[in-house]
Amino acid sequence: MRLLIWETGFKSAEKFDRILIADCLYYVKYHEALIHVMKEIMHKDSICVIVAAKRGVTMDQFMERLAATKAFGVEVSEHICEEVDQKIAEIKTQKLYRETEHKPYLVKIRLAA
Ligand SMILES: C[S@@+](CC[C@H](N)C(=O)[O-])C[C@H]1O[C@@H](n2cnc3c(N)ncnc32)[C@H](O)[C@@H]1O
Repeated sequence: MRLLIWETGFKSAEKFDRILIADCLYYVKYHEALIHVMKEIMHKDSICVIVAAKRGVTMDQFMERLAATKAFGVEVSEHICEEVDQKIAEIKTQKLYRETEHKPYLVKIRLAA
């Protein structure tokens, strides 16, 4: 395991088949660097999976920024798996549940052809 700091100057000859990004879209000031790192470590058949809640407008801003690069194909789903759907249904009944903080989205990203 290695620590990877997202930086716009990051370069990588190493590419990865699968990239998982969990709950990393909150800091808008790092969106540009994260997108740069994603481009650097993806090859034409890579699949990058992001799981994240909207957390205010931060996820939407990330998605806009991602689209603006025109470098990626993106699919967004509200369904992750039956188990997660079940958990969400359970916690929705609790007072502390806030959709923007707790409802996860699944985003599948490939490099555009
Ligand atoms: C809300 S946490 C998510 C933690 C992760 N889901 C987990 O279970 O460990 C956001 C993560 O983004 C990482 N992060 C934020 N800015 C970063 C940067 N510039 N470079 C590398 N990681 C960064 C933080 O280190 C943190 O682990």
